[in-house]
Amino acid sequence: MKKFRGIYLKNDNEITLLREAGRIVAAILEELRIQVAPGVTTMEFENLALDLCEKYKVKPAFKGYLGYPFALCCSVNEEVVHGFPSGRVLVEGDLVSFDMGVVYKGFYGDSALTVPVGRVDARAEELLSVTRTSLFEGIDQAKLGNDLYDISRAVQKYVEGRGFSVVRRFVGHGIGKHLHEKPEVPNFAPPGASRVPLQPGMVLAIEPMVTAGGPEVEVLSDKWTAVTKDRSLSAHFEHTVAVTKHGPVILSVRD
Ligand code: MF3
Ligand code: CO
Repeated sequence: MKKFRGIYLKNDNEITLLREAGRIVAAILEELRIQVAPGVTTMEFENLALDLCEKYKVKPAFKGYLGYPFALCCSVNEEVVHGFPSGRVLVEGDLVSFDMGVVYKGFYGDSALTVPVGRVDARAEELLSVTRTSLFEGIDQAKLGNDLYDISRAVQKYVEGRGFSVVRRFVGHGIGKHLHEKPEVPNFAPPGASRVPLQPGMVLAIEPMVTAGGPEVEVLSDKWTAVTKDRSLSAHFEHTVAVTKHGPVILSVRD
C-alpha cells in the first residue's frame, strides 16, 4: 500500500471495502440507537451488537484489542469513552454513547454516537448537538489543500466557542487494515506540530469527545473506563472519513 510520511494511502478498491465496513458499522449503530429507552441494561446492547456482527458476517474490532473485553464500548453520562457494557440500567435523562468497530474482509470500520435516554435536560441536549456538529465541522475540513490540523482546529473552535471542552487524552486516528494507523487526529490544535498536508486516499476516524465541564479525564480501576475528572457530562461522535479528490466522503453511513 502506498504511503505518505508513514500514512497508508488507500486505493479505490480498498476504499470500497472500507465503505462496506463503514456501512455495516452504521447499520449496527442504528439498530442499537433505536433500542435506547429507560429500563434497558447496557449489556443488552453488547449482546445485540454481537448478534448483528454474526448477521453481517463481520468480526467485532474491539473485542480482544489490547485486552478490551467487549465488542461494544458503552459509556454513560460522565463516562467519556471505553465504558464496559454491564447490568447497569439506563434511566430517563441519561446520555449513552456507543462506540463500535468491525472488520470486514480485513478492513476496519469505526463509528460512535451519543443517544439521549428519554427526555434529557437542556444542557445535555446542547452537549449532544455541539459534539455532533463539531464532528461535521471537522469532516468539512478533510479536503485536499488543507492540513490535517485544520480538522483539529475546526472541532476545537466550534466546541470551545460554545462553552464546552474538548478532551485531549484521546484522539482520532488513521484507519484501514488496522484499527489504529497513523496519523493521530487530535480534536485540538497540537502545539508545535508540523504540517501534514491531506492526501487523496487518507482514511481518518474523526472522533470528538466533548465535555460540559473541564477537559481532564481519568481512567477508572477497571483500566478502561475513562470519566471526566469533574464528573461533568460527556458526549462522543465518530465517523470514518476518506479524503478524496472530490472532497471528504463519510464511509460510516448506511447509504
Ligand atoms: N473508537 C475507539 C478508538 O478508536 C474505540 C477503541 S476501543 C478499544 O480508539 F477497545 F478497541 F480500544
Ligand atoms: Co476510533
